[in-house]
Amino acid sequence: MSSLTTFEIHEPLDMHLHLRDGDMLKLVAPLTSETFSGALIMPNLVPPITTKEALLSYKQRIKDACKDDIFDAYVTLFFQSDYSYEFLEDIKDDIIAIKLYPAGITTNSETGASSMDVEVLRPTLSSMSKLGIPLCIHGETNGFVMDREKEFMPIYESIAKAFPELKIIMEHITTKDAIDLLDKYDNLHASVTLQHLLITLDDVAGGMLQPHLFCKPIAKRPEDRSALLNAALKAHPKLMFGSDSAPHPKHKKECCGCAAGVFTSPIALQVLVELFEKHNCLDNLNDFVSLTAQKVYELTPKKKTIKFIKKDFLVPAIYEYKNENVVPMYANETLAWSIEKS
Ligand code: NCD
Ligand code: ZN
Repeated sequence: MSSLTTFEIHEPLDMHLHLRDGDMLKLVAPLTSETFSGALIMPNLVPPITTKEALLSYKQRIKDACKDDIFDAYVTLFFQSDYSYEFLEDIKDDIIAIKLYPAGITTNSETGASSMDVEVLRPTLSSMSKLGIPLCIHGETNGFVMDREKEFMPIYESIAKAFPELKIIMEHITTKDAIDLLDKYDNLHASVTLQHLLITLDDVAGGMLQPHLFCKPIAKRPEDRSALLNAALKAHPKLMFGSDSAPHPKHKKECCGCAAGVFTSPIALQVLVELFEKHNCLDNLNDFVSLTAQKVYELTPKKKTIKFIKKDFLVPAIYEYKNENVVPMYANETLAWSIEKS
């Protein structure tokens, strides 16, 4: 164990985040905006964000929920295969990327793409490529749950080949196959969550079922986790941190028919410091949580330094606001590092 007692991270970025809307937005947004410089916000609201009006008003609601925090919300549009070039040209400066969900693959994705055939996706993808709008993809088929990401690899390849100028981000990757694919195409990048660096399917379902660790894509095998963790620890130049923190109220997690999503916003940075420290890789953490994303997305985030001290942090059992609540990962457990409030 290192004898380090303090540590700093500069301009942390969360490149895959669900903030929801209404009181849940008011509850969870500050838990990110207090400690991150910026975050890429997912568009899977009900209904999903597909118009400029919906996008700009959501951005304003996020801003209001984050109060005076130094924080940028990088908002995204929900992919549709028939967006016109003119529409995308007009909205380009308001978005960081467009998020593509295969229809029905995860929470609120029912109106996603009904075909992943490049020819069907071509109208929107070719405009995005010309306009330089990055494409974020939830890469899962509807096959056997453990093989869904692996089966999606040929689809990533077909898009990467058909649009070599299009920047593609494989979201929340969970397999060694996805890590290996990064090296094959210049235009492929990826994000990885906190939980997929830490857990396998055993942690979710190997003993008593753990609903708060259940998410899409499901955590995979030990060798997958190792490949993801090694890539993150060495600051793979195409791998960014994206928490995929996905809040669902407690009654939708602790029930029959548990919603998919792990809520990690309030603990993510502290746990990353502990994890990178354990593997003697703290020097690479700032690349993983900020610099790589700055390069991939050509971002200049607001200046923000987060100071950590080696002091126990007891993770709250639940976060609540009005009628909303959410249970975080590691609820009631003690973390080794705390964030020093400024
Ligand atoms: C996300 C959600 O709840 O919106 N759930 C999840 O399990 N990750 C959607 C997603 O990113 O798949
Ligand atoms: Zn997500």
